[in-house]
Amino acid sequence: MSVSTSPTTPAIVTGAASGIGQACAQALAEAGRPVALWDISEGVVAVAEQLQKTHGVNCIGMVVDVADVEALQAGVAQSRAAHGPIGALVHAAGVAGVGMLDQLDPALWDSVLNINLRAEVFLAQALRGDMKSLPGSAIVGIASINATLGNAMNPSYSASKGGMLALNRALADDLGRDGIRINSVSPGQILTPMIQQAVDNAPGLKEEFERRILLGRIGDPMEIGKAVRFLLSDEASYITATELVVDGGNISSQR
Ligand SMILES: NC(=O)c1ccc[n+]([C@@H]2O[C@H](COP(=O)([O-])OP(=O)(O)OC[C@H]3O[C@@H](n4cnc5c(N)ncnc54)[C@H](O)[C@@H]3O)[C@@H](O)[C@H]2O)c1
Repeated sequence: MSVSTSPTTPAIVTGAASGIGQACAQALAEAGRPVALWDISEGVVAVAEQLQKTHGVNCIGMVVDVADVEALQAGVAQSRAAHGPIGALVHAAGVAGVGMLDQLDPALWDSVLNINLRAEVFLAQALRGDMKSLPGSAIVGIASINATLGNAMNPSYSASKGGMLALNRALADDLGRDGIRINSVSPGQILTPMIQQAVDNAPGLKEEFERRILLGRIGDPMEIGKAVRFLLSDEASYITATELVVDGGNISSQR
């Protein structure tokens, strides 16, 4: 007897042109879910075409700036028109927001918070009706170990990610009344363009990262994609309001 663990309702993945968002879209397409891939980069269109070709599920690539609330509301309508009601959301779009206290200005602060955090609020608001009508619907926000670890380089980023953990617990209380689950995944260091750029510009940084990690290596984006796919599946039907840390043993490390 086969066991089906994956709802086949369509998903929206933000930040899907690259890195973790792209891996999440791939993991969902592999499981047979149609995906609307969103990104501010036009490269998302080619990524969607490739996923559709490889996995034989409907995928659409859309250029959406998630910092723009009206644009994301229009994006939800366009995704629904393409795929039907949406049963899953991954908010992976994010910016690193590097800028220490003395370099911060209100524009940088607002930009990081609006992309990394605020977008998820208005996406959840726009998708609630669809999700309520589709049993097994769920949301995952990509947070970070920087929600927990202090780093002088990026207070706006840390605030956005710590805010996401708190936000998702609050939304879980509300959305749970409609049977909708919402969780956060906190990646450690994962080899995406965001981290590759940092590693390329600082000799020895990769080794410094790896020395601390209990598994001794930086992670692969698909190791996040698979964790997200699990949280969006029926295997995770009693999991909501939680943080799943996927960091190879980084924040647990005393090394
Ligand atoms: N790579 C890591 O080690 C790591 C660790 C912890 C958390 N994260 C989080 O994972 C998520 C993905 O990061 P990544 O490493 O894959 O980075 P990435 O730079 O490869 O991908 C981020 C994507 O978000 C898109 N994006 C940026 N601003 C946008 C906007 N306004 N609207 C729509 N799309 C926008 C970018 O174009 C890019 O394609 C981010 O939220 C990041 O904070 C990454």
